[in-house]
Amino acid sequence: MKIGLIGGTGNQGQGLALRLAMAGHEIKIGSRNLEKAKQIVTELNKRIDNVSFALDHLFSEKGMDWVEKKEFSTTQELEQAKKNLIGLKNEDAVKNVDAVFLTVPFQYAKNTLEQLLPNINPGTILVDVTVPLKKVGKTFICETFPEGSFSKHLAAIVPENIPVVAAFKTISAHRLMHIERPLEGVDAFIASDDDEALAKVAEIANSIRHLRAIEVGSLLCAASLELMTAALITINIRHKTRQTSFRVTI
Ligand SMILES: NC(=O)c1ccc[n+]([C@@H]2O[C@H](COP(=O)([O-])OP(=O)(O)OC[C@H]3O[C@@H](n4cnc5c(N)ncnc54)[C@H](OP(=O)(O)O)[C@@H]3O)[C@@H](O)[C@H]2O)c1
Repeated sequence: MKIGLIGGTGNQGQGLALRLAMAGHEIKIGSRNLEKAKQIVTELNKRIDNVSFALDHLFSEKGMDWVEKKEFSTTQELEQAKKNLIGLKNEDAVKNVDAVFLTVPFQYAKNTLEQLLPNINPGTILVDVTVPLKKVGKTFICETFPEGSFSKHLAAIVPENIPVVAAFKTISAHRLMHIERPLEGVDAFIASDDDEALAKVAEIANSIRHLRAIEVGSLLCAASLELMTAALITINIRHKTRQTSFRVTI
């Protein structure tokens, strides 16, 4: 699929761009600044090259067998991932794609989205990745919104012909960026009022190696996902890690 990322130059956007490009999707990394978007693509290509080199070395030196090797990305997948990444201005990144991911800090999400909506084709899925975090002492919680969740708050300004899906909110950028490490033990929770869009985003999530999509429910459920992320960051701080992730048993 073709996917555009608004603010794809940030930590979460870069991490998602890498994983999605490795899964074979065409990724347009959007930025307010074209040069920055291009620079990030160059840096991500270098990161892919380094991982490719390291994996080659690991398999040739250690003679790991096929069963272990298949857990990792192949050289061909990594080479293809580089071709799948392109840097553009936000307004061009959201045009003519199947899905637009919103990956800017929540404080700027509504204004940014408002400006870009005229460029988004009807039928394009809007994937909201933002989390309205608020720090109270050493604890993270979420800002509250009259609509129930931040995703629903954003959806209020989005035309009906652009379905809104909340997804990838509970997966840390750190986990996504470390592409040498498979995403085992990580679930991608997905919520939307539009069943067809929900299923499409679940398909996108499942296309990422090891990631498992969990369809949660309506867009109101995004409130729970936002709070899960607040808990995740609080756990990370307490346990001095950046690796925390959620996997449910069903
Ligand atoms: N980081 C995580 O682990 C994580 C995990 C789950 C969800 N999230 C959510 O994902 C979103 C992005 O997080 P992040 O850590 O990637 O954020 P970030 O690195 O701080 O920012 C992402 C991008 O947002 C753009 N941006 C910054 N200020 C802006 C403004 N005033 N107006 C428009 N665009 C602006 C920038 O892109 P340009 O300068 O290139 O335009 C920046 O590279 C947040 O809502 C966060 O809650 C993050």
